[in-house]
Amino acid sequence: MVQFALPKNSTVTQGKHYPAPEGAKNKHTFNVYRWNPDNKENPRLDSYEIDMDKCGPMVLDALIYIKNNVDSTLTFRRSCREGICGSCAMNIGGTNTLACTKACEDVKGDVKITPLPHMPVVKDLVPDLNQVYKQHASIEPWMQNDEKPPSPSATNSDAVAAGFAAPGRERLQSPEDADKLNGKDGHGPAMCIMCFCCSTACPSYWWNGDKFLGPAVLLQAWRWIADTRDRMKKKRLESLEDPFKLYRCHTIMNCTNTCPKGLNPAKAIAEIKMQMVKQKE
Ligand code: SF4
Ligand code: SF4
Ligand code: FES
Repeated sequence: MVQFALPKNSTVTQGKHYPAPEGAKNKHTFNVYRWNPDNKENPRLDSYEIDMDKCGPMVLDALIYIKNNVDSTLTFRRSCREGICGSCAMNIGGTNTLACTKACEDVKGDVKITPLPHMPVVKDLVPDLNQVYKQHASIEPWMQNDEKPPSPSATNSDAVAAGFAAPGRERLQSPEDADKLNGKDGHGPAMCIMCFCCSTACPSYWWNGDKFLGPAVLLQAWRWIADTRDRMKKKRLESLEDPFKLYRCHTIMNCTNTCPKGLNPAKAIAEIKMQMVKQKE
């Protein structure tokens, strides 16, 4: 019988324990994945006891507290601290989410923090996003329209008078067309912050991440297909017509369930499939 075993260095070992300072009354434990490419050691889970009276309420606050006060070698990405840049995406308590918008008190018991799953790790909580960025570039995520922008006379004169329009230099959209991108409820595809919580929660992406584009990139593809100012809809759809790039989505919905911004990549993928059928009719 064939026997499978994980490579020895893939086992996560129990790491160091850092107790809370004496006198701490409001303790919370954070078990954090650590891996350093510069030594040959296995990854480990270090355990940090934090006095929450000294620390902000979010998981990112706790990580920053640890880095500043307990262990400066801890490595993670972050920038905006308000759910806009997408850089602090990680797995917290078993769910992919943003550390800056996840409250510590919303995680039951000790808080386990690991990098986004099924991605190579650069160090500690930092995943290697090169492959997914390459896939994003492959959908040509920029506006493509060779037509000249509307002449001054064709531009809404009220908008010009109010200083909202630059006639001859920009392409205006109707509010209805803009809603297709932003979403009437603010959860449209243009609101995606490219955190990749969705792609790294998708089983199809885990197994075929080299060929399947995954929900984050497909949502971006839909964002450009749905943009009424773009003129490359046909070419964009044709480029996705491939057994792997799009059709590895089996509507498992992990992507939509995990998105920390409340977006719906699974619906975007369904929209692309529908547009493909329409294009063939
Ligand atoms: S709906 Fe599709 S893209 Fe989303 S998790 Fe499922 S298989 Fe992946
Ligand atoms: S759809 Fe949501 S989870 Fe996926 S990359 Fe965009 S913001 Fe992140
Ligand atoms: S730090 Fe920017 S989204 Fe969390």
